[in-house]
Amino acid sequence: MTISRRQLLGTAAAATAVVKAAGAQKRPAPLAVSSANGLKAVELAVRRMQQGIDPLDAAIAGVNLVEDDPNDMTVGYGGVPNEECVVQLDACVMHGPTARAGAVASLEGVRNPTKVAKLVMETTDHVLLVGPGARHFASMNGFAVENLLTEKARKVWLFWKQNLSEKDKWLEPDAEHYDPELKAFIEEFGWDEFRKPKTGGTIHLSALDARGDLAGCTSTSGLFFKMPGRVGDSPIIGAGCFTDNEVGSAGSTGRGEANILVSGGHLTVELMRQGKHPREACLMTLERIAKTTREKRLLDAKGRPNFGIRFYAVNKRGDYGSASMYAFSSSGKRAQFAVADASGARREDCLFLFERPS
Ligand code: GLY
Repeated sequence: MTISRRQLLGTAAAATAVVKAAGAQKRPAPLAVSSANGLKAVELAVRRMQQGIDPLDAAIAGVNLVEDDPNDMTVGYGGVPNEECVVQLDACVMHGPTARAGAVASLEGVRNPTKVAKLVMETTDHVLLVGPGARHFASMNGFAVENLLTEKARKVWLFWKQNLSEKDKWLEPDAEHYDPELKAFIEEFGWDEFRKPKTGGTIHLSALDARGDLAGCTSTSGLFFKMPGRVGDSPIIGAGCFTDNEVGSAGSTGRGEANILVSGGHLTVELMRQGKHPREACLMTLERIAKTTREKRLLDAKGRPNFGIRFYAVNKRGDYGSASMYAFSSSGKRAQFAVADASGARREDCLFLFERPS
């Protein structure tokens, strides 16, 4: 495969040896692992677990920070809207100790879909509610229904619309006079995101408490400018998130369609069950995606997936890791993930399957 893969196998073998040497002495401490946008989220989740809070409540509290943050345009309030300029959110939660899960998809007007997902889990016989049904359920449970479209997100949508096609009546704005918020968006995500729907963003967070109990949750506003009603992997239990209290918890960010097709969250947990280190399990799931991506439109000139996708995982012993399809994004940013434990919150580099998109 790649140099990174060979290096990984060396590193993974060394890590396994260290773990074996530590044997039963290793004690799970509160630990949370998430996508890179969750630095504050993992920090809060660990703090909550140190106070004895259930790992799912801790995980949700962390993710709520990102859902509430209008500056994160891939999750919750301020998320980039769909092609009709409506913000539609997807989320799921999974609770290890009770082996239960809840999810919502295409939810409009409620900024914390993870909280609604938890209520689906706790107060209904169902796992997934969608669209107007999910919104009605949230509203009946006292959630405020509000406009989630920020001014910045509206400007981004308008700019996308104006640049969408030369065959419509919208004129492209003069590059000299781009709005500063728009310029900041283009700097962060790149011009390409206006041509091709974005597949990054999203937050996944998996948590392990001091008792060894696990939980996971995932939240997203989905693909930028997606078709109304499009649902990605984030609210799909077994894809965007999966937690087994005997083994570990895993989840994903990136191209949801690719993840759904391999049930990546579940696969990663099953690989950990077979003894794989979490980071190795994440990488093997990406290998599966690379192997099963066969449509030409989804491949680059070298036959590699032309999209970004990442997995994050923690096992019951407190080993954790993350892997990314590419080491660098198209804008040159190194793929990282966030982790917090007793020594604080930090970002670490993801393992990767391929170095750079071509
Ligand atoms: N992984 C987020 C999405 O595809 O919607």
